Amino acid sequence: MTIQTKISASVLTADLSRLAEAVAAVESAGVDMLHIDVMDGIFVPPLTIGNAVVKSLRDKSPLIFDAHLMVVKPQRLIPLFAEAGSDMISIHIESDCDVPQVLRQIRDLGKKAGVAVNPTTPIESVFDCIGSADLFVIMSVEPGYGGQAFIPESLDKIKALREESRRRGIDVTIQVDGGINDKTAPNAVKAGADILVSGAYLFNSPDMAESVRKLRD
Ligand code: DX5
Ligand code: ZN
Repeated sequence: MTIQTKISASVLTADLSRLAEAVAAVESAGVDMLHIDVMDGIFVPPLTIGNAVVKSLRDKSPLIFDAHLMVVKPQRLIPLFAEAGSDMISIHIESDCDVPQVLRQIRDLGKKAGVAVNPTTPIESVFDCIGSADLFVIMSVEPGYGGQAFIPESLDKIKALREESRRRGIDVTIQVDGGINDKTAPNAVKAGADILVSGAYLFNSPDMAESVRKLRD
């Protein structure tokens, strides 16, 4: 099934001292979602954005808030990020939690539940989440930093997940995260991605609206 490709802007490479302005800029450039990269300093080395920041942004923007939790123990953070105003919350299959239970926890709070998979983790590890996750996040860079190069093998993972979901007769939404630009986006969409996360490409672009259009096309 092909729906129009959605764009989720990752604010990781924005000037975080002027976050509200960055959010307004991506919004007027026409993105669909705001991708919020949450890192705990353990699952990945950096510490980034917490629930308090998400909460303070919530009444500044009508965008869909797409929280990507790169944390070891997401379970304790789910209520906080839900309460802060996230619309979608993704956890990692590699995290230290009962993934099906945390996906249920997210859904029970009325949010879309996502499961993310790192480049070195086999895609088969998330097949059991088909039917219970609203979103699959295929990491096309090692998590932790914006501005890295797209890992081409991620395309096979997108295709394999799309294939498996067809085989089971259950539609899935696939997001691809990392290294997305006007060169890599067409291949990701061709492979079966529905949502493209883009950070460095958008924030380093001289004309963000034009770059969003290029990604969507
Ligand atoms: C990486 C993050 C990504 C990343 C995307 O850990 O999950 O969301 O910031 O940014 P770019 O598009 O710069 O790779
Ligand atoms: Zn992310």
